[in-house]
Amino acid sequence: MKVYAIANFKGGTGKTTTAVNLAAMLARDGQRVLLIDADAQHNATNFFILGTEGGITLTDVLEGLGETVWEDNISPSGRERLWLLPADMGLLSLDLSAILHGTTAGFRRFQDFLDAMGQDGEIDSVVIDCPPSFTAASVAALANADELILPTRVDDNSRRGVLELLEQVESLPRTATPARCRILVTMADRSNVSKQGEELLRAGRVEVFKTVIRRGIAVDEATYARQPLYEYKPKCAPALDYEAFLGEVLADG
Ligand SMILES: Nc1ncnc2c1ncn2[C@@H]1O[C@H](COP(=O)(O)OP(=O)(O)O)[C@@H](O)[C@H]1O
Ligand SMILES: [Mg+2]
Repeated sequence: MKVYAIANFKGGTGKTTTAVNLAAMLARDGQRVLLIDADAQHNATNFFILGTEGGITLTDVLEGLGETVWEDNISPSGRERLWLLPADMGLLSLDLSAILHGTTAGFRRFQDFLDAMGQDGEIDSVVIDCPPSFTAASVAALANADELILPTRVDDNSRRGVLELLEQVESLPRTATPARCRILVTMADRSNVSKQGEELLRAGRVEVFKTVIRRGIAVDEATYARQPLYEYKPKCAPALDYEAFLGEVLADG
């Protein structure tokens, strides 16, 4: 089982778009995939289901509630081979209470959940859509990821956000750092600032995906249609770019 965490300390950098499309493409190509929404804003959850009735949520996992025998309890996404562990606002109160009471139980439970799933052998890939901050869920995600994928726009704030996150990740104990970290440039256009920002990132010490995800209105449209890009508009620039990105993700995996 391979665990991909999709993260950046900044919002609006294409994390959810990348997580949803990566998970959907992996499932399309035959893998059994679990998409975990670790962001209390639950955008990835909304992409697939309205409301979270039925299966367990990530909040349940962190609280140690509910059986984690996944076949019975994990929500289907409505797509073949793709399951969803939804987020809800409960994640926020959980983090607050963890801060107030100084507990790390949620962190450990998340780890146990992933371990148990790895041992079950029912899932090939886990894709975790992280919030733009350190929370019990996102720290556990980073600590358990085989690969950290950092979508970033090329404006200076986004670039800094990604570098700051990397510094924090590097300060985690060695056992808790992902084996590989790669930056994915998103929402790129033909402007000079876009080109220059990309060059700055490539000149840095962190690996950057060769593929750059171009900006395209179809990405916003696809969120309304609740469809991955390959289905909504397979020939649009961002859809083609996400296919090339998938190729890179799988090439050495
Ligand atoms: N390649 C792209 N081209 C155009 N718009 C995009 C692209 N990627 C993401 N967006 C849009 O930008 C906004 C933020 O993207 P999102 O994936 O939700 O970011 P995050 O999860 O990092 O906050 C959304 O409205 C999304 O539809
Ligand atoms: Mg998001």
